[in-house]
Amino acid sequence: ALFAGDCLPCHRLDGIGRGTKGPDLGRPMNVTAYLTPAGFHALVRDPRAVRHWPAQAMAGFPPDLIGDDGIAALWAYLQLVAPRAAP
Ligand code: HEC
Repeated sequence: ALFAGDCLPCHRLDGIGRGTKGPDLGRPMNVTAYLTPAGFHALVRDPRAVRHWPAQAMAGFPPDLIGDDGIAALWAYLQLVAPRAAP
C-alpha cells in the first residue's frame, strides 16, 4: 500500500503502473540489485543527500511521511518482487 500510494505515482515497477516522472524501479534491474539498504534508505529520505543535479525531481520523504520501518518495508517489498537469479 505504501509503495502504491507514495512511489507508483511517479515510478513503474516491472512495467506496472502509470508513473512517468521517475525510472522503472524494476527494470532493467531491480533497485535492490544495485543499491544497498542504507543507500536506499538515504535516497528515499533525502535524494539530495545522496547525489545532486539541477533537474533532480524526486522530493525526499521525511520521517513524518514515511518512518524508518516504512522504508525498511519498501526495501523488503522491492526485494521480494525482484526476479531471482537462476541457481
Ligand atoms: C514526485 C515523483 C516521485 C515520487 C513520488 C517518488 N519518486 Fe523516486 N524518483 C523520481 C525521479 C524523477 C527520480 C530520478 C532522479 C530525480 O530526478 O530525482 C527518482 C529516483 C528514484 C530512485 C533512484 C533510482 C536509480 O536507479 O537511480 C529510487 C530508488 C527511488 N526514486 C525510489 C522511490 C521510492 C521508494 C518512492 C516512494 C517512497 C519514490 N521514489 C517516490 C520521482 C519520484
